[in-house]
Amino acid sequence: MTGVGIDAIEIWTGKLKLDLPGTFAPEKGDDPAKYTKGLGLHASSFPDTYEDIVTMGANAAKRLMERKGLTPEDIGRIDVATESAFDNSKPVSTYIAGCLEQVFEGDFRHANKGERKFACVAGTQSIDDAYNWIRAGRNRGRAALVIATDTALYERGDPGEATQGAGAVAMLIDEDPSLVELSPEQGYGSMDETDFLKPNQQFPSVDGKRSVQVYLARMREALTDYESVAGKTHPEEYVFAPFHTPFPGMVRKAALLGYRHMIRDTEIEEALADEIGMQPREEECETEEEYLDAVREYTDALKGTEQYRAWYARTIDPTLDISREVGNWYTGSVHIARAAALKRALEDDMDIEGAKLLVGSYGSGAQAEIHHETVQEGWQEEIAALNIDEQNERRYDLSFAEYEKVHQVHNHDEDVEVEEFTVPEDEFAFDGWGRMGERKYRYVE
Ligand code: HMG
Repeated sequence: MTGVGIDAIEIWTGKLKLDLPGTFAPEKGDDPAKYTKGLGLHASSFPDTYEDIVTMGANAAKRLMERKGLTPEDIGRIDVATESAFDNSKPVSTYIAGCLEQVFEGDFRHANKGERKFACVAGTQSIDDAYNWIRAGRNRGRAALVIATDTALYERGDPGEATQGAGAVAMLIDEDPSLVELSPEQGYGSMDETDFLKPNQQFPSVDGKRSVQVYLARMREALTDYESVAGKTHPEEYVFAPFHTPFPGMVRKAALLGYRHMIRDTEIEEALADEIGMQPREEECETEEEYLDAVREYTDALKGTEQYRAWYARTIDPTLDISREVGNWYTGSVHIARAAALKRALEDDMDIEGAKLLVGSYGSGAQAEIHHETVQEGWQEEIAALNIDEQNERRYDLSFAEYEKVHQVHNHDEDVEVEEFTVPEDEFAFDGWGRMGERKYRYVE
């Protein structure tokens, strides 16, 4: 059987923007550098009043289907990954399919539709489902449409408010893909955790500091589990390592620990020994505390080395280009990290066909997953078709007072009327409520 992977990708950002250092920081009384340097964020995307997870997902999917010349007949399943759903029974994929049926000839009656939930890792899990469906030979030659769509809002005043975002990523999963082929090897780190959850509530209950530690712990387990099936990893083996990016500062922490793990027992550790010593070994320390202190000291020194900084600039920094401008898109986040890296490779005219990506997904609650992907022959054409920079450029720049209203409009418990900030054109828009409480949508020419 030929390989299975991501054949095409489209990204749709919410059409509003909150400038974090310029607009948010002064209102909060914060130093703008907390955002740009600490968290690594410049702006967050928000949905306009007529946008939501359905319109953003349907708009991304429509662009993807048009660009690839697809009809509903070509799609055998539609899986939506989201943690912002507004219906506990009817999946978002049915709403999105309904939207697409307004503009494409034919229908999706034959397509298996579902909704995946496991915080931010659900987008990757939906890709897995599609992969397994195709590998099992149940797809009848059809491709799967996977849509990761979220409006990531936190309670006003929550520390997470700095890391909000909204947007959708549509991906076509198919045999003989044009963009990346997925490895069958995967590693998991999964554990019952209460770091970030939404027990029947719209805004998350978050233990922010702990969530950072849980992310790192589960990611480490996933990497070890991945190595148990794929063999030991080496930093030079991967051209990029896109990771779930709630904010770039989180990935900065994860990358350093990942690098330390990967260089252990390699020529890189040896080469660095004169400068920063060898990594501490647990068996050489008398107590666990002594070992942990030594590891911290080594890691701090590693961060400043030329080798690490060059690897980070090459392998990690490019994955953050889009996140920096749009914030956390939850289920879509790791998928914009992959797109950002490939986009940078295209801009830098890199020859990366056949190169490998190490992809780390994460969802609170909590689970990390790691696999690798191989860049395919058609990657340049696929990435050249993205217009995320133009979309970001076109966003309406909110004042703080406008941001407060937008937050209220998207709060399910509030009923406020706010004028739209942008004009919908050639896109799906929210069109009010139906008689059974369903949300309705129309295509605006
Ligand atoms: P906070 O307390 O507002 O920020 O919350 P802080 O004081 O920790 O500062 C943040 C960073 O900026 C720190 O860097 C500061 O030092 C630095 P660090 O020490 O950690 O490297 N800083 C500055 N740097 C330069 N100049 C300055 C300056 N001031 C400060 N002047 C927190 C931060 C992440 C806790 C908060 O934003 C939060 O709760 N976010 C939401 C939770 C989250 O994103 N967690 C991430 C891991 S969990 C995850 O990824 C899953 C998730 O996506 C959900 C899902 O799976 O569904 C969230």
